[in-house]
Amino acid sequence: MRSPQGMAGSSLLRSLGRRMKATVTEFRSIPNAAEAYGPAVLTAGLTPGQRRQLAVWLGVCSAWVFVLVVVGGITRLTRSGLSMTSWKFTGEKPPSTPEEWEAEFARYKQTPEYIKTNQGMTVEEFKFIYFWEWGHRMWGRALGLVVALPAAYFASRGLINGPLGRRLALLFLMGGTQGLVGWWMVRSGFQEPEENQVPRVSTYRMAGHLATAFTIFSALVWTTLQVAIPVPPTVAAGPEAAYASRLLTRFAHPLAAIIGITAMSGCFVAGKDAGRAYNTWPDMNGEWFPSEYFSERLPALRNLFENTAAVQFNHRMLAYTTLAGVATLWSYGRQLPALPPAAKLCLNALAVATAAQVTLGITTLLTYVPVSLGAAHQGGAMVLFTLMLGLLYSIKPAPSLGTFRLLIAKYGQAATAAAVVGIGGTVVNMH
Ligand code: HEM
Repeated sequence: MRSPQGMAGSSLLRSLGRRMKATVTEFRSIPNAAEAYGPAVLTAGLTPGQRRQLAVWLGVCSAWVFVLVVVGGITRLTRSGLSMTSWKFTGEKPPSTPEEWEAEFARYKQTPEYIKTNQGMTVEEFKFIYFWEWGHRMWGRALGLVVALPAAYFASRGLINGPLGRRLALLFLMGGTQGLVGWWMVRSGFQEPEENQVPRVSTYRMAGHLATAFTIFSALVWTTLQVAIPVPPTVAAGPEAAYASRLLTRFAHPLAAIIGITAMSGCFVAGKDAGRAYNTWPDMNGEWFPSEYFSERLPALRNLFENTAAVQFNHRMLAYTTLAGVATLWSYGRQLPALPPAAKLCLNALAVATAAQVTLGITTLLTYVPVSLGAAHQGGAMVLFTLMLGLLYSIKPAPSLGTFRLLIAKYGQAATAAAVVGIGGTVVNMH
């Protein structure tokens, strides 16, 4: 039995909820409502035209990182990643004369990769692998300019405020660190491999390099969204959309984590070259669960990340979980007609992209990982990330702090503070 006090409390909460919904509905009519909302602090006081300029620039930076990651994938797939034997922060000029090429090639000939796997390579073949590694590094360094030069220009016009400046500085720092992580990864490939093993970079360092690349990409895409659409569609579309979005968020957040974990497990497939084993589907060389899943050579935890059979089996299972999760979210989303149109669009696109990504993964495996399909599969993972971020942004609820901001925008600070203290006191007294 609920006490009369409890009933009075719940009717008070219901009426508060109704009041809050009405406040959200009126949100759009408040002159500076956008600035009262959290993400809008990045672009407070800017005109729509100025925001568009910033958004286009940040979109270009995101696309630049996308290409950078795909070129990195091609570098790995063409086995070019160990062709350059040194690293300078400021960049390396490629050899320009036949003598310089010979000298560079001679340095490469000292590496375990050349000695163990590339004996007999011609200088022309060396130029090809050098080109990809150099291109990847240069594209990465150019990203620094693509970020820094327009940032300086926009700052000189007063378009970059403190919060946006701090965000950009953090992203810039992450980008710089990414270069160092890349070299730390490459260096592991110059070490003598274990007996009978092919020289290659540490799988863990490679996974780390890709994970940080995905993090930078995601942070850039998110910042672009915040600048382009400072008030997320949920807030602008009214209370029904906010409610439908809140229902979807409960499932979308864990699913985003599953997509991230699936992508990370893919890095281990790539790092171990596990895509060139068990090239059958849906079984793995005639078995549903590979008998080589547990290796006697490896302790349990390392087995999960280093044993080819385990690594590939885990990636398959995680991919199926992602597919089932996206299908479930999609069909649930269809039962929520009040969702903002942007959310519906992202949800539909996410469902199509996931089905395509799984098909691409299977095709890549069945065809022994050709460069084109391997690179497309990596790009496909980033497309999934982008669509998931778009979905999360378009169903993002106003944070609870945002509710106070809404109230402040409508009634002013003093009235909101008095109301909060009053309501708080009443609730405490009731229990
Ligand atoms: C939602 C589903 C999937 C996601 C998000 C995903 C993601 C990834 C990622 C991020 C990589 C690393 C790429 C790289 O570092 O170059 C990868 C590699 C790989 N994935 Fe998937 N994958 C999915 C489904 C599948 C499926 C169903 C299969 C096959 C049954 C598959 C087979 C492979 C193979 C063979 C590689 C190694 C390719 C290489 O060596 O470049 N993937 N995956």
